[in-house]
Amino acid sequence: MGSDGLMTTDEERAEHVEANRAYWNDKGVADHGPLAREHWAASEPRWGLWRTPESELAVFPPDVAGKRAIELGCGTGYVSAWLARAGAHPTGVDISEEQLEVARRMAAEFGPDFPLVHGDAERLPYRDGEFDLAISEYGASLWCDPHRWIPEAARVLRPGGRLVFLRPSPLFALCAAEDGPAGPRLLRPQFGTSRLDWGRSFEFTLPHGEMLRLLRSCGFEVEDLVEIQAPAKTHREYDYLSAEWARNWPCEELWRARLT
Ligand SMILES: C[S@@+](CC[C@H](N)C(=O)[O-])C[C@H]1O[C@@H](n2cnc3c(N)ncnc32)[C@H](O)[C@@H]1O
Repeated sequence: MGSDGLMTTDEERAEHVEANRAYWNDKGVADHGPLAREHWAASEPRWGLWRTPESELAVFPPDVAGKRAIELGCGTGYVSAWLARAGAHPTGVDISEEQLEVARRMAAEFGPDFPLVHGDAERLPYRDGEFDLAISEYGASLWCDPHRWIPEAARVLRPGGRLVFLRPSPLFALCAAEDGPAGPRLLRPQFGTSRLDWGRSFEFTLPHGEMLRLLRSCGFEVEDLVEIQAPAKTHREYDYLSAEWARNWPCEELWRARLT
């Protein structure tokens, strides 16, 4: 997908969906086991790399109780579990059978139970307007072509429905290194690199202007874009990102939009 904002071709789509499915069936399970347990056991939702608390970030709309929610790329399902505990009716959709299996085990151990569906967030098996809220934390928001998953989210939401998603920032995508942590240098051009090929997997980070125009073209009104900063004190470090980097520059961000 280029800087002209075109969606992936059908061939590219088949390539990235299958590669990402295989990647998450394999590597993702090992990496995500402890994370899943930590999040399913938590009393309060904590988001993203720095575990920013829900009380600070307010990812869920205030009136979430009773709402029909769909999580796009639910992985191990903890976001849907948090939604269910807040009184919503979530459905988790994921392309990886293995990730869904972890989610089912977590649901059996911690509860609550909710539908976990094998499917592709770029082609959802739901009718128009079935949901009040679509949400993604590093799911479809990172691993799917935005020109395919955002129109799908718009399609399955009712008018007035909400879309909220967390993803890496475009700045981080420009600085992310193939091995080792991101540094203070731009390693690739922004134009033409919305679809990043990491060899075994593909990630998508549309620049801000293109994302804004895409959301608006799908009927969304953008309500907020929050650039998330790492806290002053944290013991968390990642092999691809240091807390110091993320205190100086935004490495992840939250978008809030409403279907008009
Ligand atoms: C970082 S994980 C999910 C995030 C979730 N919050 C978690 O950490 O468990 C990314 C998920 O996106 C899923 N995914 C990738 N491509 C997808 C697609 N086309 N449709 C649905 N899910 C997809 C992967 O299978 C994986 O489970």
